[in-house]
Amino acid sequence: MKADEILKQVADETAVCTKCALQHSRKKAVPGEGPANAEIMFIGEGPGFYENEQGRPFVGQAGKFLDELLTGIGMKREQVFIGNVVKCRPPGNRDPLPEELSACGDYLERQIQAINPRVIVTLGRFSMARFLPNAKISDVHGQSYQLKGRTIVPMYHPAAALHQPSLRPMVEKDFKRLPDLIAHAVPAVDLGEEKVQEVKREPKQLSLF
Ligand code: URA
Ligand code: SF4
Repeated sequence: MKADEILKQVADETAVCTKCALQHSRKKAVPGEGPANAEIMFIGEGPGFYENEQGRPFVGQAGKFLDELLTGIGMKREQVFIGNVVKCRPPGNRDPLPEELSACGDYLERQIQAINPRVIVTLGRFSMARFLPNAKISDVHGQSYQLKGRTIVPMYHPAAALHQPSLRPMVEKDFKRLPDLIAHAVPAVDLGEEKVQEVKREPKQLSLF
């Protein structure tokens, strides 16, 4: 199946998914959005109030800040894939529970496999924990890690910087490192002939920076 078909399939499945309790607080699932051949994937936590209303990721205050951060490094939201570790809204924006993260994990895994990004930016600790389970965000934010042929860059969640203004300059500084990390990122995981043919990358996407 082609990458965009897999993304569509994941979106369709999450819309009616009953694999965890978050199905009950779901108005619209938020599978994530962006090009199926994005070089960079941002992974947040889960939908908040506005995301749940609209079925789109990062459309509230944190999303506005994320847009600003992207603009600050000469990027547009349309160029990147933006998703979350859980696709349905935790009630009252509480933290996702371990069983919810694990129930929803397969959707994210399929998205990562389909998109095959060279760089994954994790936003916040739940997203970070998926790739760097023992890391502490205050120690590792803004650094890059090589994992299974991808570059993983853990960052503070933009909402954290909105609640704690002292984090803001740090988040901005971490973001400024991204173009360089992207330019020097390891090639995406080789998923074999079939995949290479299916997901056609535009090399010129990289010269944006
Ligand atoms: N915060 C997140 O982690 N994800 C969203 O989609 C919106 C806010
Ligand atoms: Fe299904 Fe994920 Fe929604 Fe839980 S959060 S109901 S696993 S789509």
